[in-house]
Amino acid sequence: MNFFCHAPPSPDAARDAAWRAALAPYYQELGVDAAAIPAGPGRAPFSAEAADALEAVRPAVVSFHFGLPAPELLARVRGWGSKVLSTATSVEEARWLEAQGVDAVIAQGIEAGGHRGMFLTADPTTQVGTMALVPQVVRAVKVPVIAAGGIADAGGVAAALSLGAIAAQVGTAYLLCPEATTSAVHRAALTSAAARHTALTNVFTGRLARGIVNRIVRELGPVSAAAPAFPLATAAMAPLRAKAEAAGSGDFSPLWSGQNAGGCREISAAQLTRELAAFDRPLSSQENRPLGQP
Ligand SMILES: Cc1cc2nc3c(=O)[nH]c(=O)nc-3n(C[C@H](O)[C@H](O)[C@H](O)COP(=O)(O)O)c2cc1C
Repeated sequence: MNFFCHAPPSPDAARDAAWRAALAPYYQELGVDAAAIPAGPGRAPFSAEAADALEAVRPAVVSFHFGLPAPELLARVRGWGSKVLSTATSVEEARWLEAQGVDAVIAQGIEAGGHRGMFLTADPTTQVGTMALVPQVVRAVKVPVIAAGGIADAGGVAAALSLGAIAAQVGTAYLLCPEATTSAVHRAALTSAAARHTALTNVFTGRLARGIVNRIVRELGPVSAAAPAFPLATAAMAPLRAKAEAAGSGDFSPLWSGQNAGGCREISAAQLTRELAAFDRPLSSQENRPLGQP
């Protein structure tokens, strides 16, 4: 089980108005009634209510993104026996997580799809690639390190292990599996040449996340000063996304993807997992040709 645990931002009417003004031309183009769009957060952080529900399940592992929940909530999760993991995007974050008593640290390199798990700073110059991050984190902490970011085949898993990681965490490569709830527009983008153009963007949620560059990222971002703090950017974008997707367009959708979509396959998650774990030789050039290439 995995939870976000960001500090909810205080609403900022001026910033919200600036964001809606930036989106106004798109509302007009798609025929969205801007006055009818509710404000409000796109995501709630891990809470006492979530802990109540989770206690009935007592999952073996609970992982967090954006740091850790408040100490009393973390104590509850640890108290019923779940192992606790969280993402670090720098040596400093890994050390901080270890000091809070996590059981393992996920070292997330800049190649990774989805949100940057960064939480001690918002400075993007601290963000480095998996191959640079994993060995530095392995040296800095005593807890096990799980490598994430750009790992999409068995050779990548083997490379992560050889850097000192005990496991690899893979996201993007699973997005075409039938079990994934990936939308049709997202699946189409992942299998097109567009998947080779990703960026860290804040236009969908207010926080940096890596996705395939689409129209709204190109025109308003990738990083927009007008976007409200996470997760407040989401509400104003949602009706544009819904309208566009209904018409078969991913122009306003978060097309989360890492830098390596070359491992995306339409096979079951179980089969993909077996293949990721089965390193015995480097892939031939035939097997690892990029998506969209003959
Ligand atoms: C579509 C998508 C959604 C994600 N959502 C989450 C999430 O909810 N929580 C989380 O901790 N990480 C999330 N991640 C990040 C992954 O945990 C992981 O860091 C990343 O996928 C690894 O890099 P890769 O995408 O290159 O495999 C997401 C990644 C993708 C691609």
